[in-house]
Amino acid sequence: MGEMKVLLKNVHKPNSHLLSTYKEGGGYETLKAALKMEPSQIVEEVKKSGLRGRGGAGFPTGLKWSFVPKTDAPKYLVCNADEGEPGTFKDRVIIEKDPHLLLEGIAISCYAIGAHRAYIYIRGEYEFGAQVLENAIREAEEDGCLGDRPMGHDYPIYITVHRGAGAYVCGEETALLDSLEGRRGHPRIRPPFPASKGLYQSPTVINNVETLSSVVDIIARGGDWYASLGTEKSKGTKLFSISGHVQKPGVYELVMGTPFKELIFEIAGGMRPGRNLKAVIPGGSSTPMLTADEIDIPLDYESLMEAGSMLGSGAVIVLDDTTCIVKETYRLAQFYAHESCGQCTPCREGTHWMVQILKRIVNGQGREEDLDLLLHIGDTLGGNCLCPLGDAALGPVISSVKKFRDEYLEHIKNKRCPIGG
Ligand SMILES: Cc1cc2nc3c(=O)[nH]c(=O)nc-3n(C[C@H](O)[C@H](O)[C@H](O)COP(=O)(O)O)c2cc1C
Ligand code: SF4
Repeated sequence: MGEMKVLLKNVHKPNSHLLSTYKEGGGYETLKAALKMEPSQIVEEVKKSGLRGRGGAGFPTGLKWSFVPKTDAPKYLVCNADEGEPGTFKDRVIIEKDPHLLLEGIAISCYAIGAHRAYIYIRGEYEFGAQVLENAIREAEEDGCLGDRPMGHDYPIYITVHRGAGAYVCGEETALLDSLEGRRGHPRIRPPFPASKGLYQSPTVINNVETLSSVVDIIARGGDWYASLGTEKSKGTKLFSISGHVQKPGVYELVMGTPFKELIFEIAGGMRPGRNLKAVIPGGSSTPMLTADEIDIPLDYESLMEAGSMLGSGAVIVLDDTTCIVKETYRLAQFYAHESCGQCTPCREGTHWMVQILKRIVNGQGREEDLDLLLHIGDTLGGNCLCPLGDAALGPVISSVKKFRDEYLEHIKNKRCPIGG
């Protein structure tokens, strides 16, 4: 338990982004070895590792790969580098500091699923990251690590960087595919699922940056080694981006199952002097808030679920006692209303009305029945949308109304913020 550097082992080296630095540490040797294995062996190794998708949903990666039909049809791998969820900034570290780890992971994964072409869909705001990746691809192709004959093997692998244009919904995998195809990024109706009809109606695997980067060490050291780390159902290491009211915000790599309190109070330096912990948003802004009394749990998928929240993307937002929970929730609700693509009425209307109600509470014009109205919108919105963005918008609103009801009531009764927010 605690900190362990598998994904972050290179990031503090000088010039960690260069191919020469990466190769000094044995870079691309795992790809060379993987290209001599049967693709099915790689899939089996990833299954054995217990790796689950690090984009938020935690779906088993090897299982996802095994859904790809074993036909001669062209197949694609798409790396989701959209990283748009407020509080999430873990993929950025790999992209900017160790781009070749990601490229090697993508190349191995391409081979495993039978794809020759991969796209990295990176959020438009990560301009520097996109440049780093493009330079890294050029270096790797010129050196023969990627391209027509990667590591001397007759299995062409081409990787292309595609920049998004600033819409959070394009991180949702099917909206991402639409955007990649040149259309407005709207989530698609499923089925069909991308594994059978994805990019250009061809079988496609979409995985997160951290997921694909994890594949390198899994193949180098074996699925059993990876599975020996972590808890019974949450394996390996995981990146956590911790922000907010801690003394040492940043990206830390922890073995799954590390105590939540260890991350906040030891690794991230704890609260600012004289301040107390009030609430934590544990896995990105869409995951339900936990109060200070609810975080005596390990950081893994199951424990967070049992606590009524989610591990999500591992974006921990720490809020101390100077935070006005109502205002914080209002800000997050504004984000989701702005990012709703508008296809589904419950999401388009529900996110808008939640903002209006929260706004009047923040402005001292709220009514007591507004709290039940917010919960009612949650009932009409939840589970009634085409993509998970609608449910995501509910996370902070419903959890804060339930757990910080008194703070809402103080705003309503006294017509002002008790915190002074
Ligand atoms: C609104 C929305 C935004 C998302 N944004 C991201 C993102 O920025 N990065 C990401 O990897 N997954 C994101 N996801 C999850 C993806 O749809 C998908 O599950 C993920 O890329 C699969 O990769 P994984 O199996 O490696 O986790 C988002 C989902 C939703 C609903
Ligand atoms: S849930 Fe919201 S973001 Fe998702 S498709 Fe429907 S309207 Fe668009």
